[in-house]
Parts: sequence; C-alpha cells; structure tokens
Amino acid sequence: MQSEKTILCIGAGYVGGPTMAVIADKCPDYKVIVADINPKRIEAWKTDDLPIYEPGLLDVVKRARGRNLFFTTDVFSAIEEAAIIFVSVNTPTKTFGSGAGRASDLQYWEKTARDIIEHSKDNKIVVEKSTLPVRTAEAMSRILRSNDKGLKFEVLSNPEFLAEGTAIADLDNPDRVLVGAMQTETGMAALQKVVEIYARWVPKEKIITTNVWSSELTKLVSNAMLAQRISSVNSISAFCEKTDANIREVSKAVSMDSRIGSKFLNASVGFGGSCFKKDILNLVYLCEHYNLPEVAQYWEQVVKMNEYQERRFAKRVVENMFNTVAGKKIAVFGFAFKADTGDTRESPAIYVTELLAEEKANIAIYDPKAIENAKEDLAHLTSATIEYCNDPYQAAEGAHAILILTEWKEFKEYDYKKIYSKMNKPAFIFDGRNILNTKELYELGFNVFSIGQTPLTHL
Ligand code: UDX
Ligand code: UDX
Repeated sequence: MQSEKTILCIGAGYVGGPTMAVIADKCPDYKVIVADINPKRIEAWKTDDLPIYEPGLLDVVKRARGRNLFFTTDVFSAIEEAAIIFVSVNTPTKTFGSGAGRASDLQYWEKTARDIIEHSKDNKIVVEKSTLPVRTAEAMSRILRSNDKGLKFEVLSNPEFLAEGTAIADLDNPDRVLVGAMQTETGMAALQKVVEIYARWVPKEKIITTNVWSSELTKLVSNAMLAQRISSVNSISAFCEKTDANIREVSKAVSMDSRIGSKFLNASVGFGGSCFKKDILNLVYLCEHYNLPEVAQYWEQVVKMNEYQERRFAKRVVENMFNTVAGKKIAVFGFAFKADTGDTRESPAIYVTELLAEEKANIAIYDPKAIENAKEDLAHLTSATIEYCNDPYQAAEGAHAILILTEWKEFKEYDYKKIYSKMNKPAFIFDGRNILNTKELYELGFNVFSIGQTPLTHL
C-alpha cells in the first residue's frame, strides 16, 4: 500500500546514496528506501564498508539506517509503497546509434519509467535526479501518461549539485536547491511536496523553483561553466610553460578580482569525473539538434582543451625523460579523478597511464582509495607492466619518476628525502596538480616539473 510519507530513490550510486542518507537523517518522520538493481551495491550499503567513499557519509548512514533508511534490490515493492520516487540511475554518454559520443543513453531512465507504471497502484510524484538532456521530463511524462490504469504521475526536475568528496557538506549546506515543475496546478502541488522535504534544513531563500526546462538546463550550464574555468586556466598554463610566466601567480592575481573569484582556477592535468564531460557533450548535442553550430563548437572546445591538457602532460613526461620511458619505472601517485573520493570515472590518470603504457613504461600506482577502480579501468592493458601498490614508498622505490595525478592532501606530507634516496637518478617529479613545494623538492635533488611553471632542474 502507498504511504504519503515514503520516499524511494532508484539508483544507489554516488548521487542517490548520499542524498537519500541525508534526507533520511534530516526527516525522521519519512521512510526513505534506496533501491538498486545491483545486489552487490545494496549489500555493501548495509555494512560499514559502504560501496562509495565519501567523508562523513558513514556517520549519517549509521544514524538513519534501520530506523527510516532502508536499502533493497526489491525495486518493484518499493515503487508500490512510495508516494515520491527520485530517479538517480546513470545516464552515460551514448556509445551507439544516433548521437553516439554526445547524447545521453536514456535506456535506464526509460526502463525505470516503465517499471514505475507497471508497479504503481496510486498517483505518484517522479523526481529526476539524473542529469538529463533538456526536455526529457516531457518524454518521461508522456511515457508515464501512457499508462492504462488511469494513474497520474507528476514529473519534477531536482538536479543534484553535490561534488564528490564534499557530498555531505554540500547536501547539509547547499548553495541552492533547485526544483522544476510543470506550470500547472498539479505540477505546483507536487513541487510543494518536494520543497517541504528540503525546507526541513535548507533556508527557504535557497530553495529555487522554476519550470522544468530551466531546472534541467541549469544543471548542464553549471557544470559547463565550472569546466570552462578549468579549461581556460589550463589553456593559459600551456602558454606559461612557453614563457616565464607562472600560472599559480597569474591565477591568484586574476582570482582576486571579486567579479571573477577564486574557485575552480587551479591548473591541473585536466578535469575528470562523471559529470563535466558528459554534461558538456550533452549541451553540445542539444545545440546541434537545435541548429546552433557556433554554440555547439564553443562548448565542445572546453572538452577538447581538457583532452589536450591530459595529452600535453603525458608528452611532457616522456620528452623530459630524454624522450624515452621504455623499461623505466614510473610511480603514479593518485588515480581518483580528484581527492577524497575513490571514483575514477573519466579520471585524467586513466589516459595518462594508457599513454605511458604505450611508451612501454613500467607503471606503479598508489592511491589511498581508488586502487580497486584503477584495476578495472586498466584491465584492458593486458600487455603492460602495471603494479598496484598499497604503499607510496613501495611505489616510488627504484622509480625514475613520480607523477602526481590527484590532489590528495597526504601527498604533500610524505618524506621526500627518503623517497629520493630510493629512486633511480636523475629523479623526476611531475606535479599534475600543483600541490607540492617545488623549491624544497628541487633542493633535495629532484628535477621538478609543475603545470604552467618553469621547471626546476639540475640537468
Ligand atoms: C548518476 C548519473 O550518472 C548522473 O548523471 C546523475 O546526475 C546522478 O546519477 P551516480 O550516482 O554517480 O550518477 O551514478 P552511479 O554511481 O553509476 O549510480 C547509478 C546507480 O543506478 C547504479 O548503482 C546502478 O546499479 C543503478 N541502476 C542503474 C539501477 O538501479 N537501475 C537501472 O536500470 C540502472
Ligand atoms: C561536479 C560539480 O562540481 C557538481 O556541482 C556536480 O553536481 C557534479 O559535477 P564532481 O565531478 O564531483 O562535481 O567534482 P568537482 O569538484 O567539480 O571536480 C571536477 C574535476 O575538476 C576534478 O577532476 C578536479 O580535480 C578538477 N578541478 C577542479 C581542477 O582541475 N581544477 C580546479 O580548480 C577545480
């Protein structure tokens, strides 16, 4: 039987899991069910060894789990019971057919919609959490409307803006919560129900309501704008490497203009993660669809610049190690797409490792949380020599070079004197995240290459 105070989320991933845990924590009078087709994932959510690493998440889960937060693979019963269904299944970039490489693959979304129709006995609110190309809510409404049971489904858009690694803080204290609804009476009533949930802990002025299309587009635009800042600063880092300008100095000085601000201006080996590339390509696809080729090209360049930055980094490694890394040991510090997560989707480390493997380097990878994912990501490199290490000192032992590919804080705290003493000489460090103290390392004997800065070398 349906209960007005039961919320279901389909998809127990990086978005669905943390979001529902926080809702359950903040709204003890609601029952929150998180369902997923993957039994391994669901089992892990029931233990203290959660399927995703996210600082602070376990505490939140432990407070609510078994009280009003439940994990299940029984999607169908949960659909029947819940009055509000969040859909947070993945929408990867299509790899086949029309729009391949750009459009989103909506098969999971559509399958989920059909499951909802089949297993509903009452009217429900369906909330999109997955990033979807603009106007998909309409398609979703059409599928849901096509039911022959006389049921009414109201489709809302409530994009998630949390960033991995800071998910709990982002959910606790969001910059804004956005809920989009059809501008009809029933749409507005449904919107109110979802707003009420967030209003338990988010100040009213931060809860923004719009029409569905604006809400869907906002998610794509936010990610595109953030990625654009990184690509902009990375393009200038290439320029700095040709001159004596220093990207850290330039970005700091630029960022002190309060109109520009300081966030997302760190030059790096490139941005990764499940959202930026996918969302920009989605925007590109939509622009092409609406016959706006100039707009499409403008945004596509943000992605191209990122690929250029990854390639440029790997090439710089090879060139400066006397144009060959064949048979040399290279230690990779960090494989996750950013610090404080084990997620490696679209991580620049994947591309850089592939390129070095092609050059026949022996690669030793250390990451505090992402080693298991790294193994899966690199499984296709069957003829490469890759060692997966549990200890950074072991990874660096006998290495010719260290590559910093993720901005983990612990990388700044290692005993580099000890590391240097065990490396092959001349020893190189390529800091793909500009986090290390280059002068200190240089004084220890390293040849130090950072992004967008003059190298410090003894050669
Ligand atoms: C996903 C989308 O990729 C992103 O675009 C959106 O903004 C939020 O949801 P994420 O949570 O990071 O992001 O994805 P992932 O960790 O892959 O989780 C999706 C989950 O959905 C998986 O656990 C998968 O097993 C599950 N799923 C997928 C279903 O339960 N049913 C399906 O039919 C398909
Ligand atoms: C992003 C958005 O920030 C979030 O709002 C949205 O909901 C999902 O996509 P996420 O992918 O988790 O979140 O990570 P984010 O912190 O945005 O970092 C993305 C990538 O950019 C990482 O690889 C990161 O290392 C890189 N980055 C970030 C830089 O290279 N330089 C910077 O200055 C900032």
